[in-house]
Amino acid sequence: MSASDIKKYAFITGATGVIGGEFARAFAERGENLFLTGRDVRKLHDLKADFSERYPSVDIKFCAADLADGESRKKLYKEAEGLIFSTLVNAAGADIQKPFSEYDEEKLTFQIRACFESAVSVCNFVIANRAEKLQIINVSSICGLQPMPNFAVYAASKGALTQFSVALWREYKGKGVNVTAVLPGSVYTRPDVVEYIRSMGFWARRAAKSPRYVVEKSIKAVRKNKKTKIIGALNATVCFFMKFLPASVKLAVIERRWRGSVKDAF
Ligand SMILES: NC(=O)c1ccc[n+]([C@@H]2O[C@H](COP(=O)([O-])OP(=O)(O)OC[C@H]3O[C@@H](n4cnc5c(N)ncnc54)[C@H](OP(=O)(O)O)[C@@H]3O)[C@@H](O)[C@H]2O)c1
Repeated sequence: MSASDIKKYAFITGATGVIGGEFARAFAERGENLFLTGRDVRKLHDLKADFSERYPSVDIKFCAADLADGESRKKLYKEAEGLIFSTLVNAAGADIQKPFSEYDEEKLTFQIRACFESAVSVCNFVIANRAEKLQIINVSSICGLQPMPNFAVYAASKGALTQFSVALWREYKGKGVNVTAVLPGSVYTRPDVVEYIRSMGFWARRAAKSPRYVVEKSIKAVRKNKKTKIIGALNATVCFFMKFLPASVKLAVIERRWRGSVKDAF
């Protein structure tokens, strides 16, 4: 059997979420077989039923798992054993946003593991089971470019994910593995996020993007093996000029801007 005859899969975490679901749809449209995961088994069933009808030539497998839990990850990897992967999208994450004083131990470890540890672990598994060529998209955030008071745990976890991805990019350069950390700003996703974007004013609404836009830009970026990709020209411009502001000014502005704003859907 030649390398091109081997069945290859796109491994997508957070497939039950808005952005992960959009990635799954985009790869199914391109004829890629899917291995989907999320915590909600019912949503995974529904996704499989929907995609099987729309894309009958695509093989769809799924396994529910809590990626914040090491034992659950082991079961997931057992389920995926024997498959070969040509794509990985780490879209799982938890955008919990609140002052640090409002966290308990459980919430803290959950968020850090869901946003960072899980992606690193899945990268390790998928790289060990890769096809001749592999593309990895790690869905990070522009929040990871800057320490964010009142959104500190999310920003630090996404910052770690971006750094990790860039290091991986260099380690695997020229070895058939493309790695891109994708940095969206606000994306119109869950109803609470849409509501939040609407409440943030004109420029925030201008900068916000649709999940489809994020997915198409991400796929383009990983094909070109870009280390990082900030999604949207306005976001990229703001991030560029932010570099020239003194850190104390940025921290004060962010602390004030995010004070009193709480998001906790997990
Ligand atoms: N929306 C935005 O504005 C925005 C902006 C920048 C970056 N991002 C990032 O984009 C990614 C997707 O966001 P989204 O807006 O599509 O969010 P979402 O709809 O809330 O989806 C989050 C996904 O992560 C999964 N997940 C969370 N914790 C998990 C865990 N412990 N184990 C396994 N799966 C877990 C959820 O699974 P279940 O639903 O099955 O629990 C869901 O599939 C996240 O990493 C987020 O940080 C989002």
